[in-house]
Amino acid sequence: PFLTYAKLRKTDPIYRCLFPDGQYGWMITRYEDAVEALKDLRFVKDYYKLNEDEMAHRTAFDQSMLFSDPPDHKRLRGLVQKSFSVKMIEEMRTRIQEITDELLDEWSGKTSVDLINEFAFPLPIIVICEMLGVPTEDRDKFRIWSTSLIEGPDGDFADEIDQHMDEFFQYLSQRFEIVRRSPGEDLISQLIIAEEEGDKLTEQELYGVVMLLIVAGHETTVNLIGNTILALLEHPEQLQLLIQEPDRIHSAIEESLRYNGPVEFSTSRWVSEDIEFKGKAMKKGELIIIALNSADHDEEKFDNPEQFDITKEKSQHLAFGKGIHLCLGAPLARLEGEIAISSLVQCFPNIKLQMDMDELEWRPGMVVRGVKEIPLFL
Ligand code: HEM
Repeated sequence: PFLTYAKLRKTDPIYRCLFPDGQYGWMITRYEDAVEALKDLRFVKDYYKLNEDEMAHRTAFDQSMLFSDPPDHKRLRGLVQKSFSVKMIEEMRTRIQEITDELLDEWSGKTSVDLINEFAFPLPIIVICEMLGVPTEDRDKFRIWSTSLIEGPDGDFADEIDQHMDEFFQYLSQRFEIVRRSPGEDLISQLIIAEEEGDKLTEQELYGVVMLLIVAGHETTVNLIGNTILALLEHPEQLQLLIQEPDRIHSAIEESLRYNGPVEFSTSRWVSEDIEFKGKAMKKGELIIIALNSADHDEEKFDNPEQFDITKEKSQHLAFGKGIHLCLGAPLARLEGEIAISSLVQCFPNIKLQMDMDELEWRPGMVVRGVKEIPLFL
């Protein structure tokens, strides 16, 4: 999509388009416009407040912070914000390193692996399961359910998606019962206590926030790890530099987030009233997509945006969004990414892709940007 983005940034940066579901909306592709749109509260997240006649279709997932506006958004985010602060996440460093080392130990003696299935997926899902207090053995179920949420809805598979969502709901319902009987120190226990206190969170919102944390907690980080390794393999001199100078890991991850951000189109919003935005007349109910990967390649903002360069100093990329919905999990994703990539390239400095870059299969859907498998020779 990068060529199309470049063209749109030049010719029609706030582009009126017809989305696949037949709905008209706008795609924002320049950095400055993206920042303004992300901060503009006339663009809202809660579709059902604008379309009350469709309220019957609203799921628990739709009631999470990601799809809420103030004041609900602040209340919902406030319940978990502290657990994701830089300070709290830093305390998890040793445990994240341990999980990473265990996963990489399993590679010893092997000559080839699939980076996604054997590393990039298990690491973040184990971490978020431990934070929430759910058994890590159930991680393959979460993968199936969240893939459904991310890659659907696709007409043919609609029944299957509904079935997965029912299973996800049933699973959580059983889990919540166990936690209600004997709460612990984990996040689900904290949320259940908040729910039982009455006015902080409804039962539906409880399901919504846990589903969101499971899905957001791993889907994106898998692709951060995968996309970073792909960028390093595509630029072997940068991989060598990182192996020789491991302190460059922070800027390597920030550059990877800018160059090949894991979130494609999930930053959608709705126009809450008839408005004018940057000279464009927008109508109430229209969809807005803020194309983060386009903003992060804007030549007005970044020097040589098409160049992957881990020596760049500070990067003001938008991979985690901006404004009130700025990614809650950014400190966790950064720490996981840094530990994962650093350990991987130090332990296996000779990794090679088993196929050409253009043979990799990208994941369908418009929410995340990442490939299905990355077969490597070690
Ligand atoms: C929101 C990206 C990892 C939890 C967001 C948003 C972006 C994003 C762009 C804003 C969406 C919008 O404005 O519409 C990413 C990327 C990640 C990542 C690129 C990894 C590299 C994580 C992790 C977690 C997480 C590890 C949690 C465990 C969330 C939550 C929100 C969010 C809860 C909603 C925040 C709100 O609505 O206030 N993420 N994310 N993310 N992310 Fe992440």
